[in-house]
Amino acid sequence: MATTQDVTARSTGCPVDHHGYQPFDQHDPFPAYAELRREAPVMFDERIGYWVVTRYDDIKAVFADWETFSSENAQKPVRERGPQARKIMEDGGFTAYSGLSARVPPEHTRIREIVQREFTPRRYKTLEPFIRANVDVLLDKLLARPDRRADLFRDLAYDVPTITILTLLGADVGQIDTYKRWSDSRAAMTWGDLSDEEQVPHAHNLVEYWQECLALVARAHEEGGDDLISDLVRDQQDGAEITDHEIASIAYSLLFAGHETTTTLIANSLRVLLAHGDQWQALVEDPKRIKAAIEEVLRYSPSIVGWRRRALKDAEIGGVAIPAGADVLLLMGSANRDEAHFADGETFDIDRPNAREHLAFGYGIHYCLGNMLAKLQARIVLEQVVARAPQLTLEDPDAIGYRENLSFRIPLAVPVTWEA
Ligand code: HEM
Repeated sequence: MATTQDVTARSTGCPVDHHGYQPFDQHDPFPAYAELRREAPVMFDERIGYWVVTRYDDIKAVFADWETFSSENAQKPVRERGPQARKIMEDGGFTAYSGLSARVPPEHTRIREIVQREFTPRRYKTLEPFIRANVDVLLDKLLARPDRRADLFRDLAYDVPTITILTLLGADVGQIDTYKRWSDSRAAMTWGDLSDEEQVPHAHNLVEYWQECLALVARAHEEGGDDLISDLVRDQQDGAEITDHEIASIAYSLLFAGHETTTTLIANSLRVLLAHGDQWQALVEDPKRIKAAIEEVLRYSPSIVGWRRRALKDAEIGGVAIPAGADVLLLMGSANRDEAHFADGETFDIDRPNAREHLAFGYGIHYCLGNMLAKLQARIVLEQVVARAPQLTLEDPDAIGYRENLSFRIPLAVPVTWEA
């Protein structure tokens, strides 16, 4: 097997040739992904210290092999926390740990088994009319605008999943902006490229965020309620093996994962479909095709383009030697367009027969727990929008910017106009 150094030289061709890949630039990463898949499918990127993997089969195999590739680095800050941020977090009692995604078996298995019981089809059934009513209220407001212009990110996608998850967790729905601010800080502090100075306000936000998670658990003990945190506390009282700190960590995880990526999925669904007018029209004429369209959006433009693993022992990915302890970045945004798996992968096509095989929700033991809830919400939004506002026009899609981030590809806006 080749050594790490041999492989670095061979897979990149030249130590500074990254094939156009810019780890934090999410504007249009797809041409670089395609070049990487062709030229250097397993490339060590010394700028971030990760082995970057871009082919579908390689990524799926790494996800599947949790005994070799652990998720323990999934929530590790890509850039070290600076001394000021560290002090703010220590002084503020910040001890949050990953809810599930960076935990490993057997701890992961134990907690997932308990939490999974709460994500039942019955719960989704109860939520559906609630979500639909919220979407309608937001659409009423949006469509009443006299200037007939809106930003579907801020005016629709932002609120829908946030109201859902806050309600589900028994958190204060009046505080959407606060939760969004905390989530932005979490995304920036873990997957962003911030200087020590820039980290400071985000560190304060994370302290507030974690204190709120602890308060939610304390309140569930005192009062109890009809929400997921109270259910977990009741499970604990009935003998389930889960601590208060673990429940607070689940809150910390869901109050981020439960809306951030779904906001992006809703925004991307509207953005991509409106940019492909004939396919938007197909949904207007036959809304039953919306479910398939959402799978294709998840494939073509996933909310999370890269997720991390760490090699626990010497291993191999696609014939390339990966040393024990190495960090690996799996670019699902690339896997999802790999021509070896998806014919004509760069083309958006709601009739694609195997769109559901995308890796947008990961794969294996950590497969996204909230995937059904995310898809349910995107479906309801699309159903209501195609029924009530089929005539929306997207402003120049190429002018849409994206937040800088290693893993999350978040559009800054989805501006639309409409005729009377
Ligand atoms: C479009 C929306 C979403 C996307 C793209 C997404 C994506 C992901 C990905 C890539 C993972 C890691 C999978 C792996 O390591 O194999 C994950 C894990 C997870 N997601 Fe999601 N997610 C979404 C929505 C949600 C929602 C709505 C919730 C909760 C209500 C949620 C809760 C979780 C949890 C708890 C995990 C950790 C599971 C584990 O480690 O066992 N996600 N998600």
